[in-house]
Amino acid sequence: ADRYAVFGNPIAHSKSPQIHARFAKQTGQVLTYTAEHIEENDFEAAVERFLQGDGKGLNITVPFKERAWALAQWRSERAELAGAVNTLYRLDDGRIAGDNTDGIGLVRDLADNSGVTLNGARVLVLGAGGAVRGVLQPLLAAGVASILVANRTLARAETLAELFADDSRVRASGFDQVPAEAFDLIINGTSASLQGELPPVPAAAVGASTACYDMMYGAEPTPFCRWASEQGAARVVDGLGMLVEQAAESFRIWRGVQPDTESVIADLRAALQ
Ligand code: ATR
Repeated sequence: ADRYAVFGNPIAHSKSPQIHARFAKQTGQVLTYTAEHIEENDFEAAVERFLQGDGKGLNITVPFKERAWALAQWRSERAELAGAVNTLYRLDDGRIAGDNTDGIGLVRDLADNSGVTLNGARVLVLGAGGAVRGVLQPLLAAGVASILVANRTLARAETLAELFADDSRVRASGFDQVPAEAFDLIINGTSASLQGELPPVPAAAVGASTACYDMMYGAEPTPFCRWASEQGAARVVDGLGMLVEQAAESFRIWRGVQPDTESVIADLRAALQ
């Protein structure tokens, strides 16, 4: 059978093997998908070994996405702009190809699964790390009207906005300069939830028709999701669907078939409880 894997460190809690096993079963594809713990100093060699054997494709997660970007010999435009690669495979000519499916995963979870209209939306993005960089181009491609990137460290938001300087829709600010007016969509791309914290966003950013999305997820609502509900957001969504959608796009790239994500998201949600 064709072999696939996710490389990361740590990797024990990865849900990717179960997601891809479900996709394979659903679509009748014969393959194996495992989670591999990779030592920091072995990443490039491990990719080479895997893709030289019967390994057909890899997902790459923390902390290797930038190194995967660097080792890819061909990159999609969205991977180029993301500065990070989460999907590797071999082109027909033998070169290693790198793609990034995180941003399209977010866009699909918003637009297809959560009923959020992206075309013309005024978007507030919280955070300016790698997770945010990976989703800006796909949001712009989906036709949003504007993106304000707000970050604790203003300089990082400015550096990120600079990458999109030729697109006047992207601006940067600190949290304290976020205008006190309702956005159509607020996306939390900070890792604050990991510490049980909340980015200091003005309550006025949430109006009666604002959708709020946390790229993190958990068995319990994240601090950001809880806060958004308390502010009366029209929709509050966590990042579980994004996880499944980015996996689906990788699966489509590798196998040429589009799996159904809805049932997989529902099963994972049930298993979180
Ligand atoms: P990732 O690749 O997951 O985005 P990262 O590059 O370390 O990880 O970025 C983490 C992001 O979460 C940053 O935007 C960070 O803000 P700083 O740039 O100011 O460090 C943000 N972040 C982390 N903890 C936070 C907290 N407690 N409150 C607000 N923002 C936080």
